[in-house]
Amino acid sequence: MDKLIRLRQEIDECDKKLLTIFQKRLNLVKEILIVKRERGQAILKPEREREIIERAVKAIKDADYSEEAEKFIEQILKISRGYQSRKLFPYNISLIGFMGSGKTRVGNELAKVLEMSFVDCDDIIEESCGMPVSKIFEIHGEQYFRNIENNTIRILSKRQNTIIITGGGAVINPENVEHLKKNGVIIFLKSSPDIVYDRIKNDCSRPVLDGKMTVKYISELYGKRFPAYHSAADIIVNSEDTLEVITNAIINQLYSMDDDFFERLSLGSKYHISNSN
Ligand code: S3P
Repeated sequence: MDKLIRLRQEIDECDKKLLTIFQKRLNLVKEILIVKRERGQAILKPEREREIIERAVKAIKDADYSEEAEKFIEQILKISRGYQSRKLFPYNISLIGFMGSGKTRVGNELAKVLEMSFVDCDDIIEESCGMPVSKIFEIHGEQYFRNIENNTIRILSKRQNTIIITGGGAVINPENVEHLKKNGVIIFLKSSPDIVYDRIKNDCSRPVLDGKMTVKYISELYGKRFPAYHSAADIIVNSEDTLEVITNAIINQLYSMDDDFFERLSLGSKYHISNSN
């Protein structure tokens, strides 16, 4: 037999074995996630992941492959994490809150920890209009922006297992809240006006605060919007803590979403994960 053909056959055999083992690993991950959910334990344990990677690198006999072994196991851990989140949180996670409340930062971190996809409503609007939000306000006015925002949220909320970052004014329109709630959980990131001011005082990309960048004006606008943020939220998290504290608080609260929430999403009960699915 030609050498190349023989080697390729061996590779195919190897892949078959890898996939069998991989499936076994995912079955174990599934069992672990049921235990974790019952105990409300974190999906991502960075120390545990580091331990697994170190062990894998040590186990590889040919030192020439240690870099590849590390990348390989890292990918496996990522896939496992994504699988766990898809099973535990089979819905979209939308972040709402005032400008500067950390929606993008927290959304990015959650996407990394849960290995979920991530979309920022304002980025999509900017892409489709071919200009920054501030320019859209300047040329077409706020109402035009709000209409596009409404349409974008309607489309984005149809996604599955996605972290959706909304603009600070999105939930003022109850229709946007309705869309986001149909397919997911809404998390309000709460920050005080002083912290918000501190975070965005030098940022000129927010037309709503153009020429009005003061704690006083932020407090007034925040006060007007607060009831909308509050009533739209399924979960409220203080976003003045560290990223790790905020993401852990969110994940812990996601674990305790009740059956009413799952019924709203037409998922029945949160205990729908079993060894058979
Ligand atoms: C707005 C907030 C912005 C952006 C637009 C309007 C608002 O998003 O959607 O400038 O009305 O609060 P961020 O909250 O991401 O800054």
